[in-house]
Amino acid sequence: MDLKLAGKTVLVLASSRGLGKASAAAFAKEDANIMITGRSEESLKEAEKELLSLSCRGRVGYYVCDITKEAEIKALVEHTMKIFGAVDVLVNNAGGPPAGTFEDFDDDDWQRAFDLNLMSFVRAIRAVLPSMKQSGGGRIVNITSSSMKQTLDNLILSNTFRAGLMGLAKSLSQELAPHGILINSLGPGKIATDRVTEIDGRKAEQESKKAEDVRRESEAAIPLGRYGYPEEFAGQVVFYGSFANTYVTGQTLLVDGGLIKAL
Ligand SMILES: NC(=O)c1ccc[n+]([C@@H]2O[C@H](COP(=O)([O-])OP(=O)(O)OC[C@H]3O[C@@H](n4cnc5c(N)ncnc54)[C@H](OP(=O)(O)O)[C@@H]3O)[C@@H](O)[C@H]2O)c1
Repeated sequence: MDLKLAGKTVLVLASSRGLGKASAAAFAKEDANIMITGRSEESLKEAEKELLSLSCRGRVGYYVCDITKEAEIKALVEHTMKIFGAVDVLVNNAGGPPAGTFEDFDDDDWQRAFDLNLMSFVRAIRAVLPSMKQSGGGRIVNITSSSMKQTLDNLILSNTFRAGLMGLAKSLSQELAPHGILINSLGPGKIATDRVTEIDGRKAEQESKKAEDVRRESEAAIPLGRYGYPEEFAGQVVFYGSFANTYVTGQTLLVDGGLIKAL
């Protein structure tokens, strides 16, 4: 299938590792121009090297950006426009908020999670809209969590802001459709990234277990019997972020091996 991404520009937030980087690589393989971001220049340089080693026809750039800061998101989009001339596809992604229950967090914690997991998406969308409108269309994919459909224990910040993102995406699907801009949200279940390995490691320590045993127990709860690979998740991001997707907008799709049973 031609995903109609060759020569298009894709901006992926929070993409120095994990799902963001895997998504950037999948777009690179479609010969799109890619802009990756994160806070650590060292990690971005490594990621850029990896993307360039794929020897695709698109160009690759990076920009150091803390997506909790409005001015930095604006500068990131301006830089992308300067280098590539447009933003055709925006993949919104962010680091995960800290784990915890209601009484663990004060106003500052809530504000930080709001800026990281909700406002970063709002601000990035606002900044790319003029370019997408001018080119007559665009694609936006929000990377969120399976908590869009079913809350996760001990993750109240994630549960709250992911639900907000669903409302945002559904409203925007209505408002942006006349401009040819399609927006969808993809929720990972358990995809094997550094973050998931760290979470398993912490759980193993708390429960005095081996990390392999924690992972095995966790995989046993997934109907497909294993964690997903970042490339499997990225394959979905690329399709919904592509111009082969011409009629799906405002939707929420989980990529979870069957883990979540909510309808
Ligand atoms: N993997 C899963 O199975 C899973 C499941 C459910 C939900 N999720 C959600 O999916 C998202 C991605 O997960 P992941 O597993 O790929 O995480 P990850 O491996 O920890 O990667 C997070 C990325 O976000 C960047 N980042 C973090 N804070 C940032 C900031 N303030 N500004 C700019 N970049 C920032 C990190 O780079 P720097 O640290 O260098 O800035 C890194 O590139 C997270 O929101 C996570 O909660 C993942």
